[in-house]
Amino acid sequence: MPADRHKKSSKYTLDRGMPGAFEGETVNRRRFMNVVTQGAGGIAVAAFGLPALGFALGPVFKIEQGSWQIIGVPDDFNELTYVTKVLTVVPGIGEAGQSIAYVRKRNPAIDTEPHDQFNNYIALSSRCMHLGCPVRYVLAAERFICPCHGGVYNFRGEVAGGPPVRPLDRFYTYEHNGYVYAGPRYSVNSELQRFSPRDPGEPLDGIGQYLYPSRWSTPPRPPTTNLPAPPAVPGT
Ligand code: FES
Repeated sequence: MPADRHKKSSKYTLDRGMPGAFEGETVNRRRFMNVVTQGAGGIAVAAFGLPALGFALGPVFKIEQGSWQIIGVPDDFNELTYVTKVLTVVPGIGEAGQSIAYVRKRNPAIDTEPHDQFNNYIALSSRCMHLGCPVRYVLAAERFICPCHGGVYNFRGEVAGGPPVRPLDRFYTYEHNGYVYAGPRYSVNSELQRFSPRDPGEPLDGIGQYLYPSRWSTPPRPPTTNLPAPPAVPGT
């Protein structure tokens, strides 16, 4: 093997002719400092970045448990328009765990989906089923409008235009001892059939209902069999 080739492959910086080389060194000082600085920078970024990322994404991965909460009395609601209510969907994380619901009384003339004790009041989630922006109810048009990409929903929360992949999610409602309660969120397909809650952007028609995981902590089952316990009587 030629001598200069041997020198190029030597572990000593001096043999390799590196700038700043010193006899006996295998890594010169500049390179050593570069490695140390980059390592320290990486640790600092991780120290600041990971907790922030965890805080931001934590609620996203938190599975919804669902609970019942009082949203008013029957006279607060009517069949013709929606009342805005703030619900806590993930307890313990403040405003990040709150969601807006648009609530009205069921109108048998237009609410033709199967009727039971959990939909005497129609409570629609304000989360757009495209990417999750908050939709706004426009009274004059009787439409829900999403400001992000032009999604439009009709009075019943069905998609009327734009990119949303399914109707607005709903909350179970329940009238009990003179109060109206809102319960866990559920999702619906384009026929307004109930499914366990899914994330925005996940269609529920056809094969879509099998592709995306439920956001409930229990596996998807017939929707009303895995509801939390009925609401407690207020004041007891
Ligand atoms: S998030 Fe509503 S249309 Fe895109």
